[in-house]
Amino acid sequence: MNKVIVSLLLTLGITGMAHAAGDAKAGQAKAAVCGACHGPDGNSAAPNFPKLAGQGERYLLKQMKDIKAGNRTVLEMTGLLNNLSDQDLADIAAYFSSQKGSVGAADPKVVARGEALFRGGKLDQGMPACTGCHAPDGSGNAAAGFPHLGGQHAQYVAKQLTDFREGNRTNDGDSMIMRGIAAKLSNKDIEAVSSYIQGLH
Ligand code: HEC
Ligand code: HEC
Repeated sequence: MNKVIVSLLLTLGITGMAHAAGDAKAGQAKAAVCGACHGPDGNSAAPNFPKLAGQGERYLLKQMKDIKAGNRTVLEMTGLLNNLSDQDLADIAAYFSSQKGSVGAADPKVVARGEALFRGGKLDQGMPACTGCHAPDGSGNAAAGFPHLGGQHAQYVAKQLTDFREGNRTNDGDSMIMRGIAAKLSNKDIEAVSSYIQGLH
């Protein structure tokens, strides 16, 4: 009887460890090397380096695993994640997720077009509104792994949408959600919606 309980507890303990949630405090020290590009608190200064602050934990962890495994190419990060364990990655995700993301400004010249796309999509072409998954305020859906977009650098967002459209970023799953959406966006659409997102909060 006791043996059964002990082995049950051990099994639960081991399963629990494998799925352990990230520890933000431990993650802060492990994220020191990332700060050079992403900013110490995850609010990067350079517009080609994505902000990680306030990003959903699940999304961050997936991207890090994708980058480490080579399913998403980030040349600047080559080899950087190789020596980090799944627990290290979970801790780093928890740390950046717990930080407050900063917000930029939208270009007033394109904001109307950007807002119309973000909130209305292109229904005549079967393209859904971004709000359905990324939320009206751009905060995403952390539990579902839909990324937070609000306040992200426009230059970075535009590069991602272009990469999805051209097939240079392919880690959006078998349903190819973002590749399908980006296929419906012109360069002008991408410029407008990315600028709108930079100012969104
Ligand atoms: C030398 C600069 C540099 C360093 C250092 C760096 N990164 Fe990055 N990282 C980038 C760039 C550039 C991108 C975006 C590439 C692209 O355009 O797709 C990126 C993308 C990411 C993304 C995806 C973000 C998103 O919104 O999809 C995550 C997560 C990430 N980095 C985590 C880390 C972590 C964790 C570290 C430290 C262990 C780190 N990075 C260190 C440059 C860097
Ligand atoms: C049906 C759900 C859905 C809709 C609608 C949607 N997205 Fe996404 N989007 C996702 C998911 C899921 C991901 C993450 C893919 C991955 O895991 O790499 C994503 C990723 C992104 C990224 C990359 C974020 C980053 O930090 O690298 C951008 C930018 C983006 N979406 C913009 C948009 C825009 C703009 C629209 C509207 C024109 C839109 N999305 C509509 C689900 C959606």
